[in-house]
Amino acid sequence: MHLGNFARIRSLLFGLLLIGRSTSAFPTEDTARHDSSTVSLGYATYQGSTYRDPFTEKTNTQFLGVRYAAPPTSSLRFAVPQPPAATPGIQEADKQPDACYQSGYGSELSPGVVLEGSALKSREETIIIPATEYCLFLNIYVPGNVNDSQKLPVIAWIHGHIINRGGYLLGSAAYGYYGYDGYNGNDVIRASNGTAIVVVIQYRLGIFGFLAGQKSAGGGSVLQHAVANGGKTNPPLFRNAVSSSMFYPPQYKFNDPLPEALFRQITTSTPAADIKDLEAVNNATNTEAFFGTFTFVPVVDGVFITEQPSTSLKEGKINGNKFLAMTNINEGTIFINENAPVTSPETTTHYVANLLPELKESEAAAVANIHSSLGNVSEQAAQIMADALFLCPTHGEFAVPPSLHGDDVIYYFPNGTNRAPPFNNQQFIQAFSQSFTNFATAQDLNQKWDETNITPAWTAWTSTNRMEMHFGQTANGAPDIGSILTPEDLLKRCEFWSSISASTAI
Ligand SMILES: *[C@@H]1O[C@H](CO)[C@@H](O)[C@H](O)[C@H]1NC(C)=O
Ligand SMILES: *[C@@H]1O[C@H](CO)[C@@H](O)[C@H](O)[C@H]1NC(C)=O
Ligand SMILES: *[C@@H]1O[C@H](CO)[C@@H](O)[C@H](O)[C@H]1NC(C)=O
Ligand SMILES: *[C@@H]1O[C@H](CO)[C@@H](O)[C@H](O)[C@H]1NC(C)=O
Ligand SMILES: *[C@@H]1O[C@H](CO)[C@@H](O)[C@H](O)[C@H]1NC(C)=O
Repeated sequence: MHLGNFARIRSLLFGLLLIGRSTSAFPTEDTARHDSSTVSLGYATYQGSTYRDPFTEKTNTQFLGVRYAAPPTSSLRFAVPQPPAATPGIQEADKQPDACYQSGYGSELSPGVVLEGSALKSREETIIIPATEYCLFLNIYVPGNVNDSQKLPVIAWIHGHIINRGGYLLGSAAYGYYGYDGYNGNDVIRASNGTAIVVVIQYRLGIFGFLAGQKSAGGGSVLQHAVANGGKTNPPLFRNAVSSSMFYPPQYKFNDPLPEALFRQITTSTPAADIKDLEAVNNATNTEAFFGTFTFVPVVDGVFITEQPSTSLKEGKINGNKFLAMTNINEGTIFINENAPVTSPETTTHYVANLLPELKESEAAAVANIHSSLGNVSEQAAQIMADALFLCPTHGEFAVPPSLHGDDVIYYFPNGTNRAPPFNNQQFIQAFSQSFTNFATAQDLNQKWDETNITPAWTAWTSTNRMEMHFGQTANGAPDIGSILTPEDLLKRCEFWSSISASTAI
């Protein structure tokens, strides 16, 4: 199958923390004797298991593979999630759930872009993980020191993929199971000194979650929660939101020609709707997309998402009180082929036109023009990807080299994978991870429970206080954390991007 112009929308690893307050505390060892780690959700009762944090030696309770919706199969495929049916007895919640169906992503050889030897390829590792349509599960992590009458803040993590890009088509809630996924909620409990409950959810990926069109409203998504219902979700879903390595792809209207064509393509090629065929179509459609891009992403459905998220962000129409956006300084790099032939500035224009298919010719040329002083064409393309889809909506930066997309995530979950964080410096890891848990628990980045946390005062970004926090590393390998001014030239480029948003759908 070849989708030509239509397979050029993309999305990536996208972690978003939605921070709310629990409505009920979980039972713990001292309140419900020693089988205390059961929790009743009305439709089912789950038995948790204990986890001893190797760093603090404190014991938490984890509930793995908790069902939160009916299986999205047969008539519920492509439909909004429904409540789960009642299950009698006690369910053992001690195994990581199987992932939702996974897919490859944009790797098609396109003009000016060559796959061989690219950064994307070298970071990529083929991981075949157990995947199923029965995947609407979540993991819950509860600190061991709470009792029944305490209400703790809940930190909800919406996964991307810790090594690959998530892109609304890869990843799962698991850690230590598939080798690389690393969302060990116990790490976040440690960074909060046991003052938060952590939830990591799975959601349908690729066509199973994001096939849009007049006949199937757009699936749920992530930044999406922050701007859902024009920022007026009632009752509120969460208090504050944090996006990390946020990918902000063009977001078309559900009935725009692009999502409609994809919808037709999928429904005509798989009329029988056999699940194995759908899985294959999902993989093939995504894999044939423009290099480094992703195909099935959120749309503006007019109901849940009422307008461009950038418009909502600009006008402050955000659910919750505060929104914290973190990004890596070199976000674009892994989505660009380093070895693309670099002959003339036209290549950059070509790249832009492929990346953003609804851009007018003059606009593509103008984008290329304002990036023309930023290195060779590969570097310009990487900067275009970074500016347009990551940096402009973000004002906090992660700068430990190489600072590629997703490189920050392991610092929230330092013990969730089979490898240590590349900058394995406890002071740095504590400063970075605790900033976010402080934001969740105290609702204030500057209110620290740990007096050894070295992050200096962190002010909110405003148009008159254009300061962002830089998390970096010195040449001698020491943490380098401090406020920096957002570069003027980046802000200028962001203004330009904003002026052409009608054509970019960003
Ligand atoms: C996608 O298909 C390719 C072959 O075209 C295969 O190598 C890869 O493992 C598939 N990926 C998934 C997640 O199924
Ligand atoms: C539960 O914890 C709260 C807050 O730490 C404390 O005030 C309360 O006394 C505790 N209750 C029991 C039954 O231990
Ligand atoms: C961390 O939590 C423990 C309870 O588990 C408490 O005793 C200790 O005082 C807390 N540390 C700080 C610095 O707040
Ligand atoms: C572009 O510049 C970067 C950084 O100097 C370099 O690594 C890369 O090889 C260059 N690409 C081409 C195609 O010249
Ligand atoms: C995580 O903790 C376990 C102990 O439970 C330890 O064996 C492992 O080495 C740790 N992993 C990392 C990356 O620190």
